[in-house]
Amino acid sequence: MHMHKSRWQTAARLAGCALFAMLSAAAGAQQEQRPNVVILATGGTIAGTAATATQVAGYTAAKVPVEQLIDAVPDLKKVANVKGEQLAQVASESMTNDVWLKLAKRINVLLAQPDVDGIVITHGTDTLEETAYFLNLVVKSRKPVVLVGAMRPSTAMSADGPFNIYNGVAVAASKESAGRGVLVSLNDQINSARDVTKVNTMTLDTFRAPDFGLVGYVVGAQPSFYRASTRKHTTDTEFDITNVETLPPVDIVYGYANMNRVPLDAFVAAGDKGIIHAGVGDGSLAAQVKPALIETRKKGVIIVRSSRTGGGPVVRNGEANDDELDFVVSDTLTPQKARILLMLALTKTNNTKEIQRMFYTY
Ligand code: DGL
Repeated sequence: MHMHKSRWQTAARLAGCALFAMLSAAAGAQQEQRPNVVILATGGTIAGTAATATQVAGYTAAKVPVEQLIDAVPDLKKVANVKGEQLAQVASESMTNDVWLKLAKRINVLLAQPDVDGIVITHGTDTLEETAYFLNLVVKSRKPVVLVGAMRPSTAMSADGPFNIYNGVAVAASKESAGRGVLVSLNDQINSARDVTKVNTMTLDTFRAPDFGLVGYVVGAQPSFYRASTRKHTTDTEFDITNVETLPPVDIVYGYANMNRVPLDAFVAAGDKGIIHAGVGDGSLAAQVKPALIETRKKGVIIVRSSRTGGGPVVRNGEANDDELDFVVSDTLTPQKARILLMLALTKTNNTKEIQRMFYTY
């Protein structure tokens, strides 16, 4: 019996080892099958902390490191093999052109690697739409690039960050997301980088595309898409920042009743190469500022007529004779995105006809 029993024990032990080997091989195979997604963290509320779980304002953004953001979402491993890199740690109201260039260059290096299938960027929501649009114009890959943020800090009760990261990785891991340009995924919704904007200071559904709407939803780690932007992006753009170390200075002059030329003159004196005029209505020019804009154009500074309204096209030769004044119109780009396109345009040309073509293309 004793010999008999030890044989059974040996057999059971061998069977256990074999089962373990099979399961770990299966797990390994499954892991190999899962897409590889890199999370590039830049800061923001998603990495924010507060003293209490109920504090959703007045917290400190950009504190929690990327490893901790990933550890807070254990189910990520069911969706993708995830690695994290801390590319920056800033509250996004302090985002800079330098961080944009560093981020874009890192993304292009990573996406050129066959073992990277997608990128998620964690980012503050205040300028998330701007970073997304900049990347939409300079990332040279069809692989998914998805920006996620949060409206509540990581310490909050019902923090939205972890689930936004989970959904964002699911979108970046999906073949369905490829070739759609840079995407923004928060609150179960997917928006295009070109059309999305932050419309509310506090609520979880703050990212909208007022003119054109969402491009899709992500539910149960599965994205579904319903439309695509008609404008060029990523591998179809003419912009290349590989060897760009600085972007040409472009600023925004905000339009309002009784405005004056002081901000415009200050930007010109500082050496700006382009000015976005965020005008009232259809990009209207106040009588007391129009001469200053004409004077500025004559100095070689590019003038783009945009609108503070946040919706609708600024129409060429509508509220001003753009042909005569040699101005450019922003079409349906918000002022903050028109600034990004003009900066990139100025890395290639000063020709206003070429620049206007770009505003009708991207
Ligand atoms: N400081 C703001 C930012 O980093 C907080 C907003 C947020 O991330 O939700 O954009």
